[in-house]
Amino acid sequence: MLLILIGPPGAGKGTQAKRLVTKFDIPHLSTGDLLRENIVQGTDLGVLASPIISKGGLVPDDLVMDMVGKRMDQDDCRDGCLLDGFPRTIVQAEALENFLKSESRPIRLVIELYVPDDILVERLLERAKTGPTPRADDTRETIPNRLNAYHNLTRPILSYYESRNLLARIDGLGTMDEVFDRILKAIEKAGKASS
Ligand code: AP5
Ligand code: MG
Repeated sequence: MLLILIGPPGAGKGTQAKRLVTKFDIPHLSTGDLLRENIVQGTDLGVLASPIISKGGLVPDDLVMDMVGKRMDQDDCRDGCLLDGFPRTIVQAEALENFLKSESRPIRLVIELYVPDDILVERLLERAKTGPTPRADDTRETIPNRLNAYHNLTRPILSYYESRNLLARIDGLGTMDEVFDRILKAIEKAGKASS
């Protein structure tokens, strides 16, 4: 089961990903989490990514693809995983497509979580105030850059998945349980359609 979660910053990707990986017993591959781990560990990738993430830009495609490829090659990902925050550009979507083709691992569903920008800003500023681990990019200055990156570079990949009948557009407003329920229904429907 290969699932992809796409959505703007604060849409609830991480929140829903945690529930989905428990439900389907698959690894959670969050490129944001992996990059932040690299920053904490002070790897070359972390040193390069840190200022980019703090400003709300996107880390170069080749570096992200290399990191994802290595993770997806590990044994626990062979039967599937949940991609959270990847692909984020057309180049990344194409690279993923080629990688999956060579491995004959089909995408079960691409889940787009959509939430209006003003609510996203509220959620992220609230997390900055009350969250347990503050993030360098949850600031009034950086959030607009993250939203711009999403609208300009990531949203264009949605039509690509829509044209292949792989896209489920899910309303990310409401309680976390309500959103989870909508996602599960979409996955079930996709399963029926493909079997
Ligand atoms: P990444 O870590 O992916 O962050 P993001 O996309 O900015 O999104 P967040 O993690 O902030 O939000 P989320 O959608 O996971 O929501 P969450 O569940 O936390 O990326 C960070 C950076 O890394 C990027 O900007 C880029 O620089 C770099 N990067 C990562 N991947 C890359 C790639 N592929 N290519 C290039 N660069 C890459 O929820 C947010 C808050 O809302 C939480 O406080 C939560 O409790 C709350 N919340 C969740 N659901 C609800 C709900 N239903 N109602 C009310 N509140 C809710
Ligand atoms: Mg996240």
